[in-house]
Amino acid sequence: MSELVLDISGLEFQWSDQSPSMRVDQLSVQSGERVFLKGASGSGKSTLLSLIGGVTTASTGRLAVLGQDLQSMSAKQRDRFRADHLGLIFQQFNLIPYLTAVENVLLTGRFSKQRKITRAEALTLLKELGIANDLAEKQVTQLSIGQQQRVAAARALAGKPKLIIADEPTSALDEETRDGYLDLLFNQCHTNGATLIFVSHDRTLAPLFDREVNIADVVHWSDQKEGEQ
Ligand SMILES: Nc1ncnc2c1ncn2[C@@H]1O[C@H](COP(=O)(O)OP(=O)(O)OP(=O)(O)O)[C@@H](O)[C@H]1O
Ligand SMILES: [Mg+2]
Repeated sequence: MSELVLDISGLEFQWSDQSPSMRVDQLSVQSGERVFLKGASGSGKSTLLSLIGGVTTASTGRLAVLGQDLQSMSAKQRDRFRADHLGLIFQQFNLIPYLTAVENVLLTGRFSKQRKITRAEALTLLKELGIANDLAEKQVTQLSIGQQQRVAAARALAGKPKLIIADEPTSALDEETRDGYLDLLFNQCHTNGATLIFVSHDRTLAPLFDREVNIADVVHWSDQKEGEQ
């Protein structure tokens, strides 16, 4: 028996009144699935992930994440839900620049009682991602981009979230580091019974996943301003 971790139907979203509107007719992801999401630049991958992560909200339609209806939540409830249950790895990392790497990872536990982690656990997670203790104690801005990308992953994995949403998380990594990173990500998902939605331009990674989703098959853009000028 499988349950849906993501259940979208008839979802519509617009960045602003002047922007085209985006529609997702149907998309569902089963519990424990590892989904590879691909599509051209500007096709709406990050926009879709920001909706799933409750960072932005759709104007209409159904969006249920881990069985919870995000559409009926207030902004505050969505923030709480994200902090408690989701692991987000953003394309731009969103690390706090004046904190050290380990402090950035510990932030996850600061925002959620359910995801408390100790400093030792945070250091272990970072070490598994190839960030040794001396680097972990440095301000994140002193780390290389690839190292920052791994700190962002550690922060997302902290406290064992049930859904991990990763937006091009391997773009700055060399092949060997990337493979180690994916191993850890997959292991964590397996051990924690987590589901993974992973965006990447690197097609060679697709066979490692349970399913490949082409964004053009699920997301449709329409220019509502058409004919107005
Ligand atoms: N914060 C924003 N405000 C307004 N429009 C935005 C914003 N973010 C994205 N868009 C628009 O939404 C569309 C989809 O962008 P999105 O970032 O989702 O694409 P993407 O598939 O993630 O691209 P990439 O592969 O380059 O990361 C683009 O036309 C973009 O201009
Ligand atoms: Mg993007």
